Amino acid sequence: MKKLMIINGPNLNLLGVREPEVYGSLSFTNFLELLQKKHSNLQIDYFQSNIEGEIIDKLHEVGFSFDGIILNAAAYTHTSVGIGDAVKAIKTPVVEVHISNTFSRESFRHQSYISPHAKGVIIGFGLQSYELAIESLLK
Ligand code: DQA
Repeated sequence: MKKLMIINGPNLNLLGVREPEVYGSLSFTNFLELLQKKHSNLQIDYFQSNIEGEIIDKLHEVGFSFDGIILNAAAYTHTSVGIGDAVKAIKTPVVEVHISNTFSRESFRHQSYISPHAKGVIIGFGLQSYELAIESLLK
């Protein structure tokens, strides 16, 4: 069974409540249940943290044994050299995802420290971005 890890960064614990006009009204926990049911042939683990170092530790922990990582580093995408370096350091392919189209938003969201080291990037499809990332890792 393939092992995938979804890692969400800061403020994504508030999905469903936070700016629903940008991020939708479904909580991630509810969405994850749907994903896990739909892909019952996969192990899909989930980790969320508001703390940069915890995200780096998780990347190190799973980044040599899992088959794929789906990373939405949220605001750290645009600021964190450390998370970018961690993605570069590990062996497991990382797909960077964003719920909103970051390129249609403020210019500070156009920069990503993760993209250069990611296998690919999926941006702007709402929560479907995560599903597309899973599909891309199954190829
Ligand atoms: C986000 C986009 C980021 O710019 C923002 O800071 C987030 C969420 C997204 O999924 O659209 O928190 O990563």
